[in-house]
Amino acid sequence: MRLQHATWQEVEAYLQHATGIILPIGSTEQHGPNGLVGTDAICPEAIAWELGEREGVLVGPTLSLGMAQHHLAFPGSISLRPSTLIALVRDTVVSLGRHGFTHVFFLNGHGGNIATLSAAYAEVYAEQSMGYASPLASLNLTTHNWFAGPRVRELAQALYGNAEGSHATASEVSLSWYACPQAVKQVAMSPTVAPVGSAQCHAEAFRRRFPDGRMGSNPALASVEHGRRFLEAGVDDAWEAYQAFIGQA
Ligand code: NI
Repeated sequence: MRLQHATWQEVEAYLQHATGIILPIGSTEQHGPNGLVGTDAICPEAIAWELGEREGVLVGPTLSLGMAQHHLAFPGSISLRPSTLIALVRDTVVSLGRHGFTHVFFLNGHGGNIATLSAAYAEVYAEQSMGYASPLASLNLTTHNWFAGPRVRELAQALYGNAEGSHATASEVSLSWYACPQAVKQVAMSPTVAPVGSAQCHAEAFRRRFPDGRMGSNPALASVEHGRRFLEAGVDDAWEAYQAFIGQA
């Protein structure tokens, strides 16, 4: 069930039997010559919607902006500062906690969000521990990175080996194309496999290191059919992680 397609009465009824919710979170940033700027939001959203449909879990609105400052030398990229993302996450989960949600499962599509999400959870937990924020009393927060799930990793390794890379990967391009087949783009890659290196730098340095935006990948290997398989693997990985999270004390 999608929160944005539900009425408040339906949400109230859901809360009678379940207090967990999935929030897809991504980024709006360049993804190389054939990858969509929306890739990091489109992928976790597709997995969350499929999982929500299959298992009856409530899926909240996709948070489509993330921490992507290193991509800002490429047109179309939009970034939140870490402090802004922390505030966004905090206000979102406090709102949900007020209604009785106890477990918020961030289904993440962007590696650059991971550290900031952890910092945001620490802020919320600090408020709980210091005892002055009653709506937060029983909130549990976690991140599941769809691209790091065991089934997804195994499939990416089998299909692409080392050409999977770490940004503008063939797996995420495939999944975004499966979700948005009208946006498939066939582009020749030069070099075939992009350079590798660190993304912990400012935007100009990132563009010098990674001139077409890819990191270690060859997304020319991507296909819509692969995307269908990544969706299935991603849904199974996320469901396993969600159940383990909900079962935690
Ligand atoms: Ni990405």
